[in-house]
Amino acid sequence: TLRVREKIADTRRRSQEGGGAKRIDAQHQKGKLTARERIELLMDPGSFREYDAFVEHDCIDFGMEKSKTPADSVVTGHGLIHGRPAFVFSQDFTVYGGSLSLAHAKKICKVMDQAMVVGAPVIGLNDSGGARIQEGVASLAGYADIFERNVLASGVVPQISMIMGPCAGGAVYSPALTDFIFMVEQSSYLFITGPDVVKTVTGENVTQEELGGSKTHTVTSGVAHRAFENDVDALATLRELYTFLPLSNRDRAPIRECQDSPDRVVPALDTVVPLETTSAYDMLDVIRGIVDEEEFFEIMPKHAKNIVIGFGRMHGQTVGFLGNQPKVAAGCLDINASVKGARFVRFCDAFNIPLVTLVDVPGFLPGTQQEFNGIIKHGAKLIYSYAEATVPKITVITRKAYGGAYCVMSSKHLRGDVNYAWPSAEIAVMGAQGAVKIIFRGKDQAQAETDYVDKFANPFPAAVRGYVDDIVQPRFTRQLICRDLELLRTKSQTNPWRKHGNMPL
Ligand code: COA
Repeated sequence: TLRVREKIADTRRRSQEGGGAKRIDAQHQKGKLTARERIELLMDPGSFREYDAFVEHDCIDFGMEKSKTPADSVVTGHGLIHGRPAFVFSQDFTVYGGSLSLAHAKKICKVMDQAMVVGAPVIGLNDSGGARIQEGVASLAGYADIFERNVLASGVVPQISMIMGPCAGGAVYSPALTDFIFMVEQSSYLFITGPDVVKTVTGENVTQEELGGSKTHTVTSGVAHRAFENDVDALATLRELYTFLPLSNRDRAPIRECQDSPDRVVPALDTVVPLETTSAYDMLDVIRGIVDEEEFFEIMPKHAKNIVIGFGRMHGQTVGFLGNQPKVAAGCLDINASVKGARFVRFCDAFNIPLVTLVDVPGFLPGTQQEFNGIIKHGAKLIYSYAEATVPKITVITRKAYGGAYCVMSSKHLRGDVNYAWPSAEIAVMGAQGAVKIIFRGKDQAQAETDYVDKFANPFPAAVRGYVDDIVQPRFTRQLICRDLELLRTKSQTNPWRKHGNMPL
């Protein structure tokens, strides 16, 4: 009937208006876009299909029964990003501060379930005052329902969280369970409880920004992977990241048509490693030299800078790169670098993305600070993830590969498929100075050091044992890796059956 039709149109219109013009203005005043504007920027034009625009909360306490907004405080559905499907939920801060009602949680769960059935990623645009206070435990139940789905989706479909406003209390744990967390500078924060409670409990005086702003999480805590200047920049970069990711664990790493010849030689790589073994260089120069069109999408560029991780392409195929960074703390492995690296290796392995590891590592960082905080168990995470990974693994030792760190960094012994050494490689238990002090105590130190260097500061000891497959001229590295990846396309390797392993956490 006409009345029903009018009601449908009117309800749909109201759902589009969210919390109304005044609150939308307030959102814009804060430099933030609305939930719907964000989806428009994230998805290809016209591709978004909304679900549940008619869903309302069912709370009848505190007069809530008189105050309902169709779609409630989250916009959900699916659309296309560069032509490939993605599911999305975008919390609407203009409706009850984007707070999570049970209805809001059910909408999120619905798209997550659908994403799992279809095999497509889930992107969450978070902007929420947390649990819907009026709903009490029903809202908490909603969070837990989402957490369970986050965990079951882990390693099945990529999950990406973009924090674009407040995210506090229980709300932080859904993003924390996803693969990537991004933030917007100055307008987003993540903490388990805000400055007021902190003041009461610990007596600390801290601002929201200091406690859980983008700088805190992308530099210090390592909770978030990257931060962006504003909503527009954030969503544009998210679209770029998407082009590197497979849709699910049943999908292959995507291949993009590529103008950059796989046979391109890179003469500059021959001189990138300085002659002086203690001099630094930038591992990003090596990665950019190797990848297609010098295009490298770095993940966590500001946290644990002694290791570099990110995505690039080799002859069009997505590859995950890990490299020790000699420029920062000589590229040593410490707690933060190990955890950063391990999580990345596991992401790539779960989603069929081959790994290329560039090694220049003087060892693990020694000292009480590291030992007291558990470098042993955290370093073990990196070994664990490389050892368990069954995707193609290619390793290039550019210079140092010392001690336990040699074993860790995708060595032959951890089922590395192809392991190369550049002529500048030094593969030994430790550096010459330290070694000589221990094994030639009391002898002519200078002579002993020269002998040690002659014996170990070169790729031969590893090459004669077959621990590296070849010693290669740096300029041919790109060409070799592209060919190896082609060969390894049919790689098939499995791990023994088990419920799950017991990774040191
Ligand atoms: N439940 C229900 N409504 C909420 C809410 C929540 N958790 N958080 C915010 N709102 C509502 C506010 O009542 C306000 O409604 P109104 O527009 O009708 O007045 C609206 O959302 C906007 O909130 P406001 O406080 O005006 O915005 P702000 O930008 O000044 O502050 C927060 C944002 C998130 C810092 C603040 O709202 C807050 O502290 N919320 C509670 C956070 C929390 O502790 N949640 C529980 C964690 S599990």
